[in-house]
Amino acid sequence: MIKIAPSVLSADFMRLGAEIEAVKASGADMLHLDVMDGHFVPNLTIGPAIVGAARKVTTLALDVHLMIERPDDFIKDFVKAGADYITVHAEAVVHLHRTVHLIKEYGVKAGVSLNPATPLCMLDNILPDLDMVLLMSVNPGFGGQQFIPFVLDKIKALKGAMEKEGLAIPIEVDGGVKSDNAREIALAGADILVMGSAFFNAGNYNDLMKSIRESLRGVRGEDQE
Ligand code: DX5
Ligand code: ZN
Repeated sequence: MIKIAPSVLSADFMRLGAEIEAVKASGADMLHLDVMDGHFVPNLTIGPAIVGAARKVTTLALDVHLMIERPDDFIKDFVKAGADYITVHAEAVVHLHRTVHLIKEYGVKAGVSLNPATPLCMLDNILPDLDMVLLMSVNPGFGGQQFIPFVLDKIKALKGAMEKEGLAIPIEVDGGVKSDNAREIALAGADILVMGSAFFNAGNYNDLMKSIRESLRGVRGEDQE
């Protein structure tokens, strides 16, 4: 099944607990948490304390997207906070194999993310070790940006390469995903769709999820009715 991961970056932080409960009630599958350090990306957001607070109010899988330099220094804190997935950026890490295995040693699922302009060959040697690949479809740092169209071919190429190698690692796509492009992105090969502004700006999260599920009907593994 194709999973939907609302990104709390666009949630109302004054009502974060209620927002997270509403995400769960809408039928979304995971909660995406964007961690930014003002160095790797030009914005600052949340840290382990907020991830820990989210853990207390939900059973949703916590999908922690680290857009930070030196992630190794913080992985333990995010594990303790209750992350289920920790994803680091290939561009931000010098010893990617060490970082991925550090995450896995804690029993947490490890993802690697690539910015739109970073080639897939960055994953060549590490791919079989991963639990998720996160392809950015905007330059990371902010919610509400436009999906960059060439990323569709990148998703297709990664899906094709994995099929050739007999790998079935989920591909997550993040940035500019909305109701009117979700189907095309899923058809290209995405398994997890992150939705920030499109989800939280929707008047009714339940209705939005219904229309997204409807638009995904007939795509791999989705209800054929
Ligand atoms: C961007 C973040 C995204 C962001 C997506 O740097 O990684 O997760 O919240 O927001 P939308 O869906 O609004 O593009
Ligand atoms: Zn993200």
